[in-house]
Amino acid sequence: MMANGGITQREYWNGEVGARWARNQRRIDAVFAPLTAALFAEARPRVDSALLDIGCGAGDCAIVAARQLGGRGRVVAADLSVPLLAVARERAEIEALAGAPIDFIEADAQTHDFGSAVFEHAISRFGVMFFEDSGIAFANIRKALVPGGRLTFLCWRRMEENPWISVPRRLVLPLVLEPEATPADAPGPFRFAESETIGAVLAQAGFLDITVEAVDRPLTLARSADGTSRDAAEAAADFAIELGPVSRLLRDQPDSVRATARRLVAEDFADRALSGAVTLDAGCWLVSARR
Ligand SMILES: C[S@@+](CC[C@H](N)C(=O)[O-])C[C@H]1O[C@@H](n2cnc3c(N)ncnc32)[C@H](O)[C@@H]1O
Repeated sequence: MMANGGITQREYWNGEVGARWARNQRRIDAVFAPLTAALFAEARPRVDSALLDIGCGAGDCAIVAARQLGGRGRVVAADLSVPLLAVARERAEIEALAGAPIDFIEADAQTHDFGSAVFEHAISRFGVMFFEDSGIAFANIRKALVPGGRLTFLCWRRMEENPWISVPRRLVLPLVLEPEATPADAPGPFRFAESETIGAVLAQAGFLDITVEAVDRPLTLARSADGTSRDAAEAAADFAIELGPVSRLLRDQPDSVRATARRLVAEDFADRALSGAVTLDAGCWLVSARR
């Protein structure tokens, strides 16, 4: 199933979007840092164990995991996106120094053979909502876990529970044609916005002890070095409309529309900025399940 104007997820994350995420990896990781901390507080990867990172993107979580597992652990980090994997490999070489070795692989988590009963942990930071077939994907991930192994992931709750997305979206929507509603089971950032869906899909794939916990964190989208709200507001507007889900609304729009969108969002964010930082709330599900 395609939910990106007729292109596959592989094409989507290997095209302009993947390149943009690759260029902005440091900003994305800084903004999501409070959520990454929540993910690892729940996953608690055991020293010396093996961990699979699903939809690893530019490798932030794989690198955090490698440090926690130590030199005798092992990380396999899978993604469809060649540009993001290239950034991940480069970073890991520089940053993961004393940690577990990380194998970054170009692989579709739905179909790749990760082996049977290999990993004690599988984790994902916002990488599991994009499967064309979630049932097949989670069954494949479950197979790769050892009995008792745990899957832990973060996904977005509803748009309204994510002001960092809904505030800029409300400003951008009048500039573009209202996007067609996507089917509830289509891949996309809000695929698992309803907690019942997550429970049903994981149970169907054979997972046990499924817990779905709401996690709310303020995200600082940008902070200006000299404390001026205006710079922070512009940088935060760039983040929100270039890297967040709102970017999907502006795809294929002319530069003039993008510029207007950026101006409107920056003006709104300037009013919200405090001490040179633009911070809006994010709402996620933190999901845990056992093989
Ligand atoms: C929102 S990004 C998150 C990336 C990374 N986990 C992070 O937090 O920075 C979603 C990622 O999932 C990857 N992805 C989508 N479908 C996938 C699939 N079937 N198998 C593996 N990776 C997939 C995309 O290429 C993209 O890198």
